[in-house]
Order: sequence, then structure tokens, then C-alpha cells
Amino acid sequence: MKGVILAGGTGSRLHPLTRITNKHLLPIYDRPMISYAIEALVTSGVGEIMLVTGGTHAGEFLRLLGSGQSFGIDRLSYAYQEKAGGIAEALGLAEKFVSGDRCVVLLADNVFERSIRPCVEAFIRQERGARVVLSKETDQEHLRNLGVAQFDGNQRIERIIEKPERPPSEFAVTGIYFYDPTVWRVLPELKPSGRGELEITDVNNWYLTEGLMEYDVLDGFWGDAGESIDAYYAVNDFIRAHRGHKDKDA
Ligand code: G1P
Repeated sequence: MKGVILAGGTGSRLHPLTRITNKHLLPIYDRPMISYAIEALVTSGVGEIMLVTGGTHAGEFLRLLGSGQSFGIDRLSYAYQEKAGGIAEALGLAEKFVSGDRCVVLLADNVFERSIRPCVEAFIRQERGARVVLSKETDQEHLRNLGVAQFDGNQRIERIIEKPERPPSEFAVTGIYFYDPTVWRVLPELKPSGRGELEITDVNNWYLTEGLMEYDVLDGFWGDAGESIDAYYAVNDFIRAHRGHKDKDA
């Protein structure tokens, strides 16, 4: 399975910090944000990774990551997104890299407490289709800024609602997605959303309509550090407390 890390976008919700650097290079405790996504994939056994980024600071990823070897990556490729056209558009740039294989896509502003390896293994066992990873979130205001799952009576996801005014459940869709090669046929059919972007939620809703979507529910902390300045600090606080505690134990 190939890994695709999406690290583009304008980071407008973190302006003015993101006027001077790419959001995914901002620090989370003692490391640039991007390194958490890399660690999540590498420790899950995904060693072939493409990083998709854009904007005026793209070169700094190369400076930080180089060949990727010091981060445990077997083969690191880069793609450049000419304009911020959304997550699904950025994913399209990885088609040749993934080349008929399956892929796990990770948004580089998502930080997880626990390993995502069980989800990777579950997708390896899954015959076909796609897989999303949910996290329980009770704060309604927070849910309004995310994709949220709507369930039928059999605990199957019916639909994902992006940034719902009235969240249909307390299960947010995190920024880890698994796709089989059908995804490359879905992407060209997408139409830009109200925010002018090709939405990953539309890709996921396509798989749901076809009955080809499975899901996992995560345990432990999950944060989208790009969601707002408060979310950014919540992730920082969590990692600082958590890693600090680990260091004391060491
Ligand atoms: C994106 C997705 C959303 C998901 C979130 C997770 O939102 O569109 O469904 O819940 O990532 O981080 P965005 O960060 O583009 O607002």
C-alpha cells in the first residue's frame, strides 16, 4: 500500500502565521507538524510515500525531509499543487505514483495519539472499496467545522455531511482515508463545492452510495491542528503533556 500525505492549502484559518510558512511546517511541540503524519505512516508499515504540497514554501519540505531516509521512509516522492484546489484535487496528483496499488491518504495537519496500524491492517484485509476513520466528538461547534457521519439503523454510514450546521451524529471523519484504484475514476467526476474546492467528502459519499465504504472508530486523542488557532494549540498542549510524560517515564 502506498502512502499519500497532503500538505498543501493556504492555511487561511491560521493566518497570519501561515503567510510566512506552510501550515504543516509550523511547530507541534518540538517538531514540524508534518513529521507526525510521516511517523504515523512509517510506524504502520507504509514506507513508500508521496508528499503533495504547494505554495511558496514548498522547497522547505525538501530541506527538512530530503530523501526521507532519516524519517524512516523507504522512498519519498514529491508533487507540487499549482493552486489550492482542495484535498481531492491534491490527491489526483498522486495517481501515477500510486499506479494501480491501494493507498492511504493522510492530511498532514491531523495528529493522532494512537497508532493507525490497526486501520491499515483492516484495509489490507478489506476486499475492495474505501475506508474512513471516525473519532467521537461531543462538542457541537467543533463538529460544525468537520465532516460528520450520518448512520442508518444498522450502524452503517449513510452519508458524510461536510461542515454540517446540524451535526447528524457525534462521529467526526478524521483525515485518514483508504482507497482502492477506483478512486482515480471518481476524482475526474467531482464538481467544486461552495468553497470552490474538490471535496474529499464527495469522494467518500460516492463510495458510500456504491456500498463500498467501511469504517473504524479511533480510540485516544485526535486533533486537526489546521482547523483553528485554538485547535492548533489544543494539539500542541496534548503532545507536550503526553510526550513530556513519556520523557519522565524514560
Ligand atoms: C477536511 C475534511 C473534513 C475532515 C477534516 C479532518 O476538512 O474536508 O471532512 O473532517 O479534514 O481534518 P478541512 O480541514 O479541509 O476543513
